Amino acid sequence: MITYVDAETKARRTSGVIPLHGEAGFAGMRKAGRLTAEALDLLVDRVEPGVATLELDRLAYEFARDNNAIPATLFYKGYRHSICTSINHVVCHGIPDERPLREGDIVNIDLTLIVDGWYGDSSRMYPVGEITRKAERLIEVTYESFEAGLAAALPGNTTGDIGAAIQKHAEGERTSVVRDFVGHGVGQLFHDEPNILHFGIPGTGPELKPGMIFTIEPMINLGRPHVKILSDGWTAVTRDRTLSAQCEHSIGITETGHEVFTQSPRGLFNPLVARR
Ligand code: MF3
Ligand code: CO
Ligand code: CO
Repeated sequence: MITYVDAETKARRTSGVIPLHGEAGFAGMRKAGRLTAEALDLLVDRVEPGVATLELDRLAYEFARDNNAIPATLFYKGYRHSICTSINHVVCHGIPDERPLREGDIVNIDLTLIVDGWYGDSSRMYPVGEITRKAERLIEVTYESFEAGLAAALPGNTTGDIGAAIQKHAEGERTSVVRDFVGHGVGQLFHDEPNILHFGIPGTGPELKPGMIFTIEPMINLGRPHVKILSDGWTAVTRDRTLSAQCEHSIGITETGHEVFTQSPRGLFNPLVARR
């Protein structure tokens, strides 16, 4: 399993300690999360047949520039774009390119904007024109699975409760949960403790405490959960080439529940709800 924490932050945090953020952190995340969500809202109107993902990348870059934000993925470990665009059987980390989107494609756009040093990380699904019933169902199950995980993100629960809730819903709908990528602590680092697995056993893993800030970002496949990385070193695809979908929010645990920092101002997080 790839864990961002092992890959990136071991050098900085060897203690395995999960940071607890105060009001300043929550305020910082609110601002960064809000701007990220605004950018993802803006892209809703621009995703249509014929548009290249590189054009969407340019729009995200310009939005960041105009709002004094920095796209966290730009020059991150050699990545050269402001967004990841993961189409159809691409699970995550798809690289924007010149190819036009086609009617029926489903695309995940993942954006992290840094505002005043705080990282707002979010992704959503974007249907391109009319999509198949199969694709629509996958998107629906992915959002429902996310919501099940989010509902378990409460103080006193554990990270395993989140993963178990996601897995239970996804597998109950005869879809599968990708194991190789996980949610992560976020804040003034892109990828911090704790890892948030999108599968697991209730009651296991670290206890959730007020002040913890992390992402939940399940990747759900219509077929089997296994992925492979293409020769570009980034693009993760389903081994069986079945469709994959994902959505992601940055959240904070509060005394009574959680706060979602990347909520869509226009209510467009779930594209299917938004279409109705
Ligand atoms: N935003 C992604 C996440 O949810 C990370 C993308 S890293 C990149 O954690 F380099 F691929 F862009
Ligand atoms: Co993330
Ligand atoms: Co992300």
